[in-house]
Amino acid sequence: MEIYEFGQRLIREAGDFVRLRMKKDFRIDAKLNPNDLVTDVDRETETYIYDRILEKYPDHHIIGEEGHGTDIEDTEGVLWIVDPIDGTLNFVHQLQNFAVSIGVYIDGRPHCGMILDVMNDHLYHAKAGEGAFKDDIRLAPLEDTDLAHSLVSLNSNWVIKDEIGPAFTKVVKEARSTRSYGSAALDLAFTATGIVSATLFYRLHPWDYAAGMIIISEVGGRTTNLLGEEIDILKKDSILAGNRALHGELVEYFDSDESFIAAHRRAHGEK
Ligand code: IPD
Ligand code: CA
Ligand code: CA
Ligand code: CA
Repeated sequence: MEIYEFGQRLIREAGDFVRLRMKKDFRIDAKLNPNDLVTDVDRETETYIYDRILEKYPDHHIIGEEGHGTDIEDTEGVLWIVDPIDGTLNFVHQLQNFAVSIGVYIDGRPHCGMILDVMNDHLYHAKAGEGAFKDDIRLAPLEDTDLAHSLVSLNSNWVIKDEIGPAFTKVVKEARSTRSYGSAALDLAFTATGIVSATLFYRLHPWDYAAGMIIISEVGGRTTNLLGEEIDILKKDSILAGNRALHGELVEYFDSDESFIAAHRRAHGEK
């Protein structure tokens, strides 16, 4: 069985695991701050996925949000990048609107990506060069849009920050409207289907965007950081994904704002 087929089967099994596990009690802990939560279900699902991959492919590498692969420093070989539950706050508060996200890179190049909307049981998936799908329906290529006629997804937390807020505020003012779904992986999947035309984040980790980036690329979309720079799959960065015309228009908002650029360089470093 190919990695792509195995990955799809695995992520669906992980979804079954979560749906069963969440019926029982689980512990909720805070990580870096009181709003940064993790549950037993996040940890156990990551371990489930990790064990299944290594059982099948003992020489593959795995990075997961909840602690696996912290020693991985390069992209040689087959690298699985796993977010066991993306949207933990939704999971805790709503028991819905969260995803499992798995991206696979071979020698640093995109191979395949899978995002499971667990409670709606929809699988967004793509293999590099072979198009993208929602379940077994092929996704259409993205159509170009302009900001004035677009829904864009972004988190309001960034709009109220001192140095970076004004650039985000301009986007909010010019867009037709904004949305915020609370799961970066689902924001990216929704961008790939065109129900939002772009999605913007000031800071994401590889496990948040690894799968979504591949799916978006397979529908002809573009993903970079907010300054229009290419993403390094092992690094935290800002993320801007969308159809090509809107992506280009949005980069201008951020890359022409000196205070935003300076804050971004301090947070994410020079490229
Ligand atoms: C978070 C979600 C959220 C995004 C955060 C992520 P987690 O992931 O994707 O939508 O705004 O930046 O950290 O912690 O729920 O896996
Ligand atoms: Ca988290
Ligand atoms: Ca995440
Ligand atoms: Ca997570």
